Amino acid sequence: MRFSSAPFNAFEAAVQDPKEQEEGEGGSFGRELLAGLRSKPRSISPKFFYDAAGSRLFDAICELPEYYPTRTELSILARHAGEIAQQIGPDAEIIEFGAGSLRKVRLLLDALKTPRRFVPIDISGEHLAQAADTLRADYAGLDVQPLVADYTRAFSLPAKAGGSGMRVGFFPGSTLGNFSPAEALSFLQSAAQVLRGGGLLLGVDLVKDPARLHAAYNDAQGITARFNLNLLARANAELGADFDLAGFAHTAFYNAPMQRIEMHLVSRAAQTVNLLGERLHFAEAETIHTENSHKFTIEGLRTLAARAGFGIGPVWTDPERLFSVHWLPAAQ
Ligand code: TRP
Repeated sequence: MRFSSAPFNAFEAAVQDPKEQEEGEGGSFGRELLAGLRSKPRSISPKFFYDAAGSRLFDAICELPEYYPTRTELSILARHAGEIAQQIGPDAEIIEFGAGSLRKVRLLLDALKTPRRFVPIDISGEHLAQAADTLRADYAGLDVQPLVADYTRAFSLPAKAGGSGMRVGFFPGSTLGNFSPAEALSFLQSAAQVLRGGGLLLGVDLVKDPARLHAAYNDAQGITARFNLNLLARANAELGADFDLAGFAHTAFYNAPMQRIEMHLVSRAAQTVNLLGERLHFAEAETIHTENSHKFTIEGLRTLAARAGFGIGPVWTDPERLFSVHWLPAAQ
């Protein structure tokens, strides 16, 4: 992951690097996909999950009976919204990283005193615009400024809203766990800089019984499998690749020493795939690693946050201690 070293207080290039738009060969998706599939073990960056279809499938995952994180985090936010609002104070500006359907931030906005501005950042522009329009209609006094950007690559933000309120980052959904430990640290370091004088409200999934984790990422209806395979469907549709979707299987398992769920696509047989003029050979049972979802302990997360320069604030969990929401103040 790279962060731009440019000042963080300008609108600037955050929206989309124009170089990438001009690029042929499928732009950054094509370039990064090919690089990931050439490397051994093969991998694809999970940020490419979220085209319009992928975003819809992800919303469906969040509703699954086995997928506890979304509803658990929502229940924590609902239950402790008042205490969270107390930490933040009035007139705040909320920056949401990886905004999705914007359901969670409503609980926060409803509890805050006169929130001024909301900047949802997401890589999926279509999904984001729709969600932002709906939100705008429901919050008349709020300045909603969606930003289509890859916050793992560029981290520039609009100039801070005027007034005395805090700038608050909102990073729910345990998306931090989808980064490598080094990327997570670097993300948090950048966040601590851009949120100076404010703080980060961070939701992360907790270490627990592996059977519970396994079920969450291997749902009975196969929606997570479709979500995973959508990467290949996307490569076919956008890059003219010829992945046989029936030739790859979704697998997800808990890697205990690494404290993470790993998602892979496993080649069901020896096969060859054509992508951007290249022939890629897959052995039977060879995997493409598509995602990690790291799980945290409360102490582990706090140690990481402190290393990134955050202070330690209160943490809220559910009665089963499945999930955690942390308030991390950023020094002035
Ligand atoms: N960040 C969440 C998690 O790791 C949500 C998520 C991202 C997810 N990619 C996913 C959930 C793929 C299921 C499958 O749990």
